[in-house]
Amino acid sequence: MRHTGLLAGAVTAVSAQASYGNGYGGAGPNNLTFETSIKVNAAQQYQKMIGGGCSGAFGAACTTNTLSAADQEAVVQTLFGENYGGLSILRNLIGSSKGATILPSCPDTPAGPFNYSLPGNDTCQLPLARTALKYNPDLFLYADAWSAPGCFKTTGMEAGGGVICGVRRSNCTQDWREAYANYLIEYVKLYQQRGINVSLLGAYNEPDFNPFTYSAMLSDGYQAYDFLSIFYPMVKKAFPSLAVSCCDSTGARQQRDLLYELGRLGGTNLFDVNTYHNYQSDIKEPFDDLLKGQPTIETEWSDGGTNWTPTWDKSGNNFEGFQWAIYMHNAFRNNVAGWSHWWCTWTGGDAALINVNGTSYQVAARLWAFSGYFRFARPGAVRLDAESGVEEVYVTAWQNTNGSVAIPVVNAAHYAYTLDISLAGTNVSHGVAYLTDNDHNVTMSEGFAVSGGRFQAVIEPRAMKTYFLDSQ
Ligand SMILES: *[C@@H]1O[C@H](CO)[C@@H](O)[C@H](O)[C@H]1NC(C)=O
Ligand SMILES: *[C@@H]1O[C@H](CO)[C@@H](O)[C@H](O)[C@H]1NC(C)=O
Ligand SMILES: *[C@@H]1O[C@H](CO)[C@@H](O)[C@H](O)[C@H]1NC(C)=O
Ligand SMILES: *[C@@H]1O[C@H](CO)[C@@H](O)[C@H](O)[C@H]1NC(C)=O
Ligand SMILES: *[C@@H]1O[C@H](CO)[C@@H](O)[C@H](O)[C@H]1NC(C)=O
Ligand SMILES: *[C@@H]1O[C@H](CO)[C@@H](O)[C@H](O)[C@H]1NC(C)=O
Ligand SMILES: *[C@@H]1O[C@H](CO)[C@@H](O)[C@H](O)[C@H]1NC(C)=O
Ligand SMILES: *[C@@H]1O[C@H](CO)[C@@H](O)[C@H](O)[C@H]1NC(C)=O
Ligand SMILES: *[C@@H]1O[C@H](CO)[C@@H](O)[C@H](O)[C@H]1NC(C)=O
Repeated sequence: MRHTGLLAGAVTAVSAQASYGNGYGGAGPNNLTFETSIKVNAAQQYQKMIGGGCSGAFGAACTTNTLSAADQEAVVQTLFGENYGGLSILRNLIGSSKGATILPSCPDTPAGPFNYSLPGNDTCQLPLARTALKYNPDLFLYADAWSAPGCFKTTGMEAGGGVICGVRRSNCTQDWREAYANYLIEYVKLYQQRGINVSLLGAYNEPDFNPFTYSAMLSDGYQAYDFLSIFYPMVKKAFPSLAVSCCDSTGARQQRDLLYELGRLGGTNLFDVNTYHNYQSDIKEPFDDLLKGQPTIETEWSDGGTNWTPTWDKSGNNFEGFQWAIYMHNAFRNNVAGWSHWWCTWTGGDAALINVNGTSYQVAARLWAFSGYFRFARPGAVRLDAESGVEEVYVTAWQNTNGSVAIPVVNAAHYAYTLDISLAGTNVSHGVAYLTDNDHNVTMSEGFAVSGGRFQAVIEPRAMKTYFLDSQ
């Protein structure tokens, strides 16, 4: 159903005497060249970019400790530096397990006393946040809990499900909701005391899923209403500009179900950012019908397996960089404003963007897919309407706050496309292309001038190319 209006006549062969009735070029099947048009219209605008990210949760932030001090810095710069990975979201775990929690001992009743303290360097998340801030001073720190302290829950344990005492169907003798709200706010205060601002605060991680073995707490949309209706006003009182998330479900469909239930009780105004994960279902349609204008961020995804896939496009598996470029494209077209990988770094497997192996590290090409978007469509950029003439060439367009325009294009064909790109409603006059494929990592390539609101460009086979246009 994509772009049917533009399809007719948009695909034409470049070579002269060919007959393309059967789709093959006259000079033989090994010499196919194609062209199509891309139309960008700045008058039609969608969501505002929040950015790309990753997490140092569950000890991931400590996995760089085996590297030299210089390489530890280089890894964080590679992820968060504007001219490298271009990330801006860091998702912290508000730890609930022994040794990782800010509440090492639990009072007998919700009346307290509560003795909070940050455990050491917060399992290396604090130094990671500090270094990330050095390379991206506008870091968007998302502090998120996987579970309440065990003693606040029906099960008495932080791992393996249970619900917070006080919500419907919890059937506890005491109501711990306010205590949980205070505990989450306390984590923000402990970071603030160390000079680090949290931007977004979350009470849930995958509340639709019981992993049985590790930190987890369940909630349906009705139970989320029972907690958020206490939590949301408390957050706003403590930190008026701190945003509240809901609810990091395992997939877009699971998140829709939760939001639907929350909305039935009138709870759609009890959060500021709609957060979901991409594990159990990916996004098929915008969340807009279930929201009151809040932005959406995909806050976690990766492969839990042991394979490490550093490549861009060698095997076609879904953890190659090329595939992630298209996953993100699809999310953006469905009005998603941010996209976070699971771990930033780890010691094996596709759960991380960077693999650390003793004293060396390797960057997955997935990060170059992130960079193709987030280096150029910076936080605050607004998505513009952009249509490609053909299905296999994917396009989004973004206008930064200073008027510069980023056009990330992904060519899924195994042959190059010549693109005739037209822009309406912008002032850009010239640009530079940045190429990512098997041999290039967001490499600056050709420059070009924009004339009469259009320019011609070539995109290589199986490549992502970001056209970055400015007016000065
Ligand atoms: C491809 O086709 C074009 C136009 O017919 C021709 O000029 C060119 O030489 C061909 N290239 C190869 C490698 O056959
Ligand atoms: C509070 O916790 C700190 C650090 O864990 C500890 O040193 C202190 O004794 C505790 N205070 C009380 C009153 O339990
Ligand atoms: C953070 O604490 C861990 C122990 O939990 C330690 O191994 C690591 O060196 C510390 N990192 C920094 C940067 O202080
Ligand atoms: C609630 O708890 C009481 C006391 O433990 C128990 O008798 C009752 O069966 C529980 N009700 C439900 C619905 O679980
Ligand atoms: C943190 O937030 C406070 C209040 O919103 C602001 O005054 C301060 O400048 C911020 N600090 C940093 C380091 O961004
Ligand atoms: C880690 O490095 C060792 C020694 O250089 C090598 O044998 C091993 O294959 C590496 N492991 C991974 C997962 O890259
Ligand atoms: C691109 O990055 C990969 C790691 O993702 C690295 O192995 C490769 O050498 C880099 N290539 C260039 C041309 O920088
Ligand atoms: C406009 O903003 C973009 C994104 O922050 C930046 O890369 C670019 O250099 C800026 N352009 C000018 C002319 O300042
Ligand atoms: C383009 O330039 C005009 C005139 O200077 C200005 O009014 C308009 O806001 C600019 N548009 C953008 C998108 O920067």
